[in-house]
Amino acid sequence: MFKKLNPIQALRFIPQPLVIVTAGDPNDPKNRGGMTAAWASRVSWSPPLIMVSIAPSRNTLNFIRKYKCFVVNVVTPSLEEVAYNVFGSLSSRNVDKFSVAGITPEEAKTITAPVIPTASIVLECRVVNEVEAGDHIMVVGEVVDAYRMSDEKPLVHYIGMPWKITKSD
Ligand SMILES: Cc1cc2nc3c(=O)[nH]c(=O)nc-3n(C[C@H](O)[C@H](O)[C@H](O)COP(=O)(O)O)c2cc1C
Repeated sequence: MFKKLNPIQALRFIPQPLVIVTAGDPNDPKNRGGMTAAWASRVSWSPPLIMVSIAPSRNTLNFIRKYKCFVVNVVTPSLEEVAYNVFGSLSSRNVDKFSVAGITPEEAKTITAPVIPTASIVLECRVVNEVEAGDHIMVVGEVVDAYRMSDEKPLVHYIGMPWKITKSD
């Protein structure tokens, strides 16, 4: 079977992780934020690096730049709704997303950043590099601390159409 795809649409078929990237002062509602991200990937074993691709308009990028660090909170089913409807759609320019979501953030252990207490895996990262890539900025962070907060399974983000392609697709 062969079916030509539009490259932009084709990228939708790659399953992505679902994370909430948080940054800022965990104790200051006016100075903290976070955004849902699916464009995130590990990029190096040694040192352990992760990158998150962030549109320049996201306010979370301002917090990341100010504090030079961020947390990757891996989303589980119990965080799915706030990942889509709060951290993935509101902007921390206008609201404190943690209060809207009913989440009291914890302090990260090694860096200054808010942690979502019900995330399954928490990766604390220090920014090592920013790389412009098309209309996004890849923020590369070294994972300087990591721990597990729940035994719920991480979610995968996938917005492609059903895998079995029929003649009408
Ligand atoms: C499932 C999902 C995945 C997303 N992935 C990304 C991403 O990888 N990069 C990005 O810049 N925005 C992504 N977004 C959009 C941001 O989360 C959204 O614009 C957010 O409201 C930005 O908030 P901020 O302005 O407070 O940073 C995603 C949204 C959703 C719902």
